[in-house]
Amino acid sequence: MRFRFSSVPLLSALALAAAGAAVLPATAQNGDPIAERQQVMKDVGRQSRTLNQMVKGEAPFDAAAAVAAFQAMNQDAQRFGTLFPEGSETGGNTEASPDIWTNRSEFQEHLDKFAADTAAAAAAAPQDVAALSEQFRVVGGNCRSCHEDFRVDN
Ligand code: HEC
Repeated sequence: MRFRFSSVPLLSALALAAAGAAVLPATAQNGDPIAERQQVMKDVGRQSRTLNQMVKGEAPFDAAAAVAAFQAMNQDAQRFGTLFPEGSETGGNTEASPDIWTNRSEFQEHLDKFAADTAAAAAAAPQDVAALSEQFRVVGGNCRSCHEDFRVDN
């Protein structure tokens, strides 16, 4: 696996992600929202690993790649909340807690905070590992707090 990215393919990947998000309402209705939201979370996990490797010095620090990872997570954060329609509470090995459907406003607060923190981290554009570590710590806090409240273990 390579950790040095040029920003150009990353930007086109982001453009594709944005285009994907734009057609989402139709996809969410017609597709499989459980599989889609699990894919979105898998991407969040991937971006998180990229950042974690830089923080730990297991991959070289790359400011553009760090910003791109936070931006991708931000897209994921915005998309994730659209993938919990009525009728997708069970099946597909979902780990979504039933509380998502009964306490939508609190779930939305978690989503909004995750989106805000990833946007702020991207905007901060950390220029060294110390700055990246701080942004990653703030963004990473979202994983645990939402998983504790709204993800169940299968
Ligand atoms: C707003 C709530 C929320 C936030 C924030 C959140 N998650 Fe999740 N995550 C979920 C839910 C709900 C599921 C279960 C989805 C399902 O199975 O339907 C999940 C599932 C996952 C999965 C399993 C995906 C699969 O099915 O293989 C991974 C990996 C994951 N999250 C990583 C992360 C990481 C890393 C972060 C933080 C950077 C994060 N999540 C932040 C709610 C959240």
